[in-house]
Amino acid sequence: MSQKLAVCSLEQLKREHYRVVEWNDLKIAVYFHDQAVYAFEDRCTHNPSPLSGGAIEGDEIICIMHGARFNIKTGAVTMPPARCHLRTFPVSVVDGEVLLVLSLRHKIESSH
Ligand code: FES
Repeated sequence: MSQKLAVCSLEQLKREHYRVVEWNDLKIAVYFHDQAVYAFEDRCTHNPSPLSGGAIEGDEIICIMHGARFNIKTGAVTMPPARCHLRTFPVSVVDGEVLLVLSLRHKIESSH
């Protein structure tokens, strides 16, 4: 069972580059990057610090705290000190609206 969470219009996301939405106790960063939309948990896997707003180089977002890097498209950690990948979330664009596709699995994982 999945549910769709409206983020904003694609045009708004293009203008703002990213948005952070909250769902249960998760913060999810939604980025327009390289002509597509990507979503990942807005929480560095090194320490629980937000990643949104961090510098972007190529496909990497850089944690402002200690410089870990993550691939925006895949969530893969590409530079320590973080060692674990980011959780990513499926997104879709329907009639110009960006939607996060969230499942019960995401909700259960967020409570741990
Ligand atoms: S909190 Fe992100 S690298 Fe340390």
